[in-house]
Amino acid sequence: MSNTTNHNSDAVAVFMSAEETRTNADDTPAGTAVPIHHLYVHIPFCARICPYCAFYKDLLDRSQTSRFCEATLRDLDQQRASFTLSPETIYFGGGTPTALTTSQLEFLLGGFRERFDLSSLTEWTIEANPGSVSARKAALLRKFGVTRVSLGVQSWDDELLKLLGREHNSQQAEQSFHILRAAGCSNISIDLMFGLPGQTIEQWKFTLEKTISLEPEHISAYCLTYEEDTEFFLRHARGELLQNTDADAAFFEMAMSILEDAGYQQYEISNYARNGFSSVHNSAYWLGKDYLGIGPSAFSTVGMHRWQNICDYRTYIDRVLSGQSTRGASENLTSDMKRTERIALSLRMSEGVAASELKHFRQEAKEFISLGLLRKSSGNFVLTRKGKELADSVAEAFL
Ligand SMILES: C[S@@+](CC[C@H](N)C(=O)[O-])C[C@H]1O[C@@H](n2cnc3c(N)ncnc32)[C@H](O)[C@@H]1O
Ligand code: SF4
Repeated sequence: MSNTTNHNSDAVAVFMSAEETRTNADDTPAGTAVPIHHLYVHIPFCARICPYCAFYKDLLDRSQTSRFCEATLRDLDQQRASFTLSPETIYFGGGTPTALTTSQLEFLLGGFRERFDLSSLTEWTIEANPGSVSARKAALLRKFGVTRVSLGVQSWDDELLKLLGREHNSQQAEQSFHILRAAGCSNISIDLMFGLPGQTIEQWKFTLEKTISLEPEHISAYCLTYEEDTEFFLRHARGELLQNTDADAAFFEMAMSILEDAGYQQYEISNYARNGFSSVHNSAYWLGKDYLGIGPSAFSTVGMHRWQNICDYRTYIDRVLSGQSTRGASENLTSDMKRTERIALSLRMSEGVAASELKHFRQEAKEFISLGLLRKSSGNFVLTRKGKELADSVAEAFL
């Protein structure tokens, strides 16, 4: 099952996983006068660590969070000295940004507001965990101009939430949704996961229908991935947790039919939105635009250069506060790498890939069309429903 989350690392997974392409970051070009319009900010704290999660995060340590917020704004200042930042989208992801206290969030959001002219800002997203949403935090997000909240519900089934090690139950998730709405959040996305161990198709149908009944503007539905270095990966390797690819395909098929019937357009393989509510920030990744990442583990791509900040928040804080670089691995991109990445990512989107991008792959495209995996639409190659289930294999043939 083809999968990716909306995280800032997903747009780059193809290349930065190749160890041998890594170089030391500090030999990289410093900045550019070309404005960067998309900012990602990584907040690594979580109240509890989920056994399936491979994102960079650490257990919430209240003795570190204020220093971290200070370092984040200091890092932003250092980046502003090198880059022209003119944000159209800002994305606070994690980890769990809402694990910060209300006053820490106020300090951070206020710091961003002070530093930027936000007149061009069209979208400001924050990821929220239902276990850490309160009326005060929701009001603060609204007051400081956050326009979109991505709520990690995952499932409406309490047994599955327990299995996932979530810190919330379904009732708390529903309350959090209503708190956000009552505070005036008019753009809420709900994250769901399918293909969970023991999950039945009826449970998944219930989760989809319950989600639709709340009328969020956006829904992300991810197939559970057994990520290396997670507890789920080990349990899967030991045969304790089983993956059923046929069932995963049925879950995916069901999500497409039920969500599309309910008026959500599948604008990317894992993402569905009501008209006008596709995520602008995530689309920027998928369309290959430049973005700057602040915070530990955050990726940046500027022109033909890509780097990742170090994946350790304590070192990140120390380095920022002592004026040192926060960059870890980096690489120079070639136009061939960029083209390959553009094909892989745009194939996942509803507009598909421009036929001109596939001019060297006419025969492969023809075969996929005859297999019913690809179709031609307005000069682009677009995955069919069946093709979406096999998106990674189709993309591979073009790389
Ligand atoms: C990095 S999390 C951040 C959101 C927040 N901390 C939470 O968990 O609610 C973003 C989303 O990635 C998805 N995700 C995380 N690990 C995953 C995995 N192993 N397989 C599939 N989706 C995953 C979840 O749906 C989650 O809501
Ligand atoms: S709360 Fe979110 S970021 Fe934190 S461990 Fe769980 S899935 Fe990962």
